[in-house]
Amino acid sequence: MKILVINGPNLNLLGKREPHIYGTTTLEAIEAQLQEEARLRGVALEFFQSNHEGALIDKLQAAREGVDAVIINPGALTHYSLALRDALLCLQCPVVEVHLTNVYRREEFRQHMVTTGAVTGVIGGFGPLSYRLALLAAIELVRGGGTNCSRA
Ligand code: DQA
Repeated sequence: MKILVINGPNLNLLGKREPHIYGTTTLEAIEAQLQEEARLRGVALEFFQSNHEGALIDKLQAAREGVDAVIINPGALTHYSLALRDALLCLQCPVVEVHLTNVYRREEFRQHMVTTGAVTGVIGGFGPLSYRLALLAAIELVRGGGTNCSRA
């Protein structure tokens, strides 16, 4: 099983970026935790981070083949990128959207999420643990053959 883990704009700065909001754990540390979790479960992970919307879309398009599930934190693109939403809708595999923060407890503009309607499910508000929960969800979705909920 292969799972692609995508992080969008500014998530490369985790650990340094607004630590009072996003914490002090770096993206590298989150990826190392995921790698260990995946290794124990016999799952292969690929990591990709970009600050560029087009690069993220290219990566999602390539993931239409050879990837069993996608985990994505689209960063601020969550709130306005219809192009990213459309790219997510082109995927056949399960997609878990992840957020470090509980966006519903934050500014009003963050409560408008355009990508979330194009994914299988969303996990947020648990800091780095959100990613581990997303990984477990993705593995279960692939092994269990999906969810009862539709992704229309
Ligand atoms: C975020 C939430 C977004 O609103 C924000 O723009 C981010 C990070 C999160 O993980 O909580 O970049 O996706």
